[in-house]
Amino acid sequence: MSYELLTILSLVCIGASGLLILTGLFFIKTGRRELHKKAMLSASFLALLFLVFYLTKYFMYPPKHYEGPYRGLYLFIMVSHSILATLNLPLAIVTVFLGLTDRLSKHRKIAPVTALVWVYVAITGWLIFGFLKLGGG
Ligand code: HEM
Repeated sequence: MSYELLTILSLVCIGASGLLILTGLFFIKTGRRELHKKAMLSASFLALLFLVFYLTKYFMYPPKHYEGPYRGLYLFIMVSHSILATLNLPLAIVTVFLGLTDRLSKHRKIAPVTALVWVYVAITGWLIFGFLKLGGG
């Protein structure tokens, strides 16, 4: 699979999963629990697909480096994205588990953090792609 195709597939997956998290939040805020569950499980599936494409790209091709004028901003976004993306996996697993096992008071405590981290990671993933496209080596 080419570098470009893997990049497009991983971007579409992480972007769609971020949108599904926002949709799932809208559903739970409007009392539609079943649709909330479906949206969040679909977001989780797309995030797993993202991971497959991202890791395939990581092991098949050398990483690109940003050499443009906004290096400080790029590094802040890249480092915060990488740390939160790593944190997002266990957060998502625990949040989904608590939701599926009806442990709702604990779910309600951790889920807003998971949703925030997830959406941040999705948005900054696209930003990093933009930086590399415009200023990548
Ligand atoms: C990563 C996945 C998920 C995220 C980020 C998430 C996020 C949230 C958030 C932020 C709330 C609180 C909403 C509020 O304050 O009113 C919530 C509530 C809820 N979630 Fe999830 N959720 C996820 C997965 C699930 C799953 C898989 C289920 C499965 C059944 C589920 C069932 C519920 C229910 C029933 C509530 C209402 C709790 C109550 O009002 O007592 N969630 N979720």
